[in-house]
Amino acid sequence: PATLRALADRAHVKIGTAVDGTALAEDATYRRITAREFNSVTAENAMKWESVEPERGEYDWTQADELVRFAHRNGQVVRGHTLVWHSQLPAWLTAGVADGSIGKAELRSILRNHITTEVKRYKGRIQQWDVVNEVFEEDGSYRNSIWLQQLGPSYIADAFRWAHAADPKAKLFMNDYNVEGVNAKSTAYYDLAKQLLAEGVPVQGFGIQGHLATQYGFPGQVAENLARFGALGMQTAFTEVDVRVLMPADEAKLATQATYFRGLLDACLNARSCKSFTVWGFTDKYSWVPDVFPEEGAATLMDEEFGRKPAYAAVRDGL
Ligand code: XIL
Repeated sequence: PATLRALADRAHVKIGTAVDGTALAEDATYRRITAREFNSVTAENAMKWESVEPERGEYDWTQADELVRFAHRNGQVVRGHTLVWHSQLPAWLTAGVADGSIGKAELRSILRNHITTEVKRYKGRIQQWDVVNEVFEEDGSYRNSIWLQQLGPSYIADAFRWAHAADPKAKLFMNDYNVEGVNAKSTAYYDLAKQLLAEGVPVQGFGIQGHLATQYGFPGQVAENLARFGALGMQTAFTEVDVRVLMPADEAKLATQATYFRGLLDACLNARSCKSFTVWGFTDKYSWVPDVFPEEGAATLMDEEFGRKPAYAAVRDGL
């Protein structure tokens, strides 16, 4: 039987998964399926700032390097995730900003150094970088992060310029959740993309995380949304797809879940701008969902024993 990656190769698209660094190191079944089913990988946590620079100036690239090596051995591309975010920042950084020991000018140079160091380290080995992650609120206003507060909105253009200087061939993305369809938040990204492109800022892609939940319904106007970014000459990608259900899961919920995965995949395959579709983990065994959303779970393609759920078949049949 064909694997997801064989079908994706034939369709000239990337089918990716987020990879849990600890599971990759310790679980041979997990490793085998990651290699067999996917032609793209994303570090679930290992490339985030708190992971790579836990103490100021002391870097730990262990898990990130391991994933990049794994990808290379297995003929997979890598999505870099993520350079500028309000979350999972190292404690030394947030504490330093809070107590005033890191001022604005220093913060800007710290950010520049972070982006340059990380992007250069993996130069030529990252297909797409999520340069900025989750920079807008639901209403389309800029997210009130330390970056906005300390540096103002120009940190976004700066981040893209610095990343581009460090690896001119990597495709540079903005990335967020709740932006599948046309809404205030996705429109803020559309307007920002137009503005950045007009200013000559190197931004090439719009990443749609795709964290859905069956109880909230399937988003409308996904095709229209992908099309408008495509019309700007931007790439699009689904970067973190999972579909959580209210627990306990049952056959009906898993059937609905399958149609949601398929709905996003079809939208990608039908859009000229979209050549990359990544799930945020492929097995419920290591999914982030139960840790973050109380009463929700079963969000991925395979159950905790790596058994294929209806969603797996839906993705396979869609490719
Ligand atoms: C999540 C990881 O899956 C968890 O393991 C971690 O504890 C928190 O972050 N949007 C993103 C991802 O861009 O980086 C997040 O990943 C999920 C939401």
